[in-house]
Amino acid sequence: MKAFYCIFLISSVVLMSCSTNSIDDLEPIGNEELPDLVTYQEVRSTFDNICSACHANPPQNGAPMPLINYENVKEAIENRGLLDRISRNEGAQGLMPLGGPRLPQSVIDLIFQWNEDGLLEN
Ligand code: HEC
Repeated sequence: MKAFYCIFLISSVVLMSCSTNSIDDLEPIGNEELPDLVTYQEVRSTFDNICSACHANPPQNGAPMPLINYENVKEAIENRGLLDRISRNEGAQGLMPLGGPRLPQSVIDLIFQWNEDGLLEN
């Protein structure tokens, strides 16, 4: 009988120590804690649907360059003041899309975030 209590005691201690260091106690470090980076895939519909009416290949209506793929759009942000053009006030000269209406602010914000995230393609 003594041996039985002994085994019972030992196994209780072992079981308790197991449960206090369970993996459930660890802080979650999954992807949900890191904000996703914005990529070209999330902003391209604006360029494809709105800008490419003029910024096609070849460009139409006097537009100076195409905006139909990742390279075009990245180049226009870096060297052609694209961010400035889309954030001018409604009715201001040079606002893109030409002739308005101004893009929704949420779309403008997303394109700015894409730039801040490093203009990733994917
Ligand atoms: C209705 C035709 C039209 C649409 C739609 C349009 N553009 Fe333009 N865009 C032009 C024309 C014409 C010019 C040249 C005149 C000027 O610079 O304002 C131009 C110039 C630009 C320039 C300056 C290029 C340079 O080298 O100086 C940028 C940047 C630009 N557009 C971006 C855009 C973006 C982004 C969109 C979509 C949100 C867009 N455009 C939609 C006609 C258009």
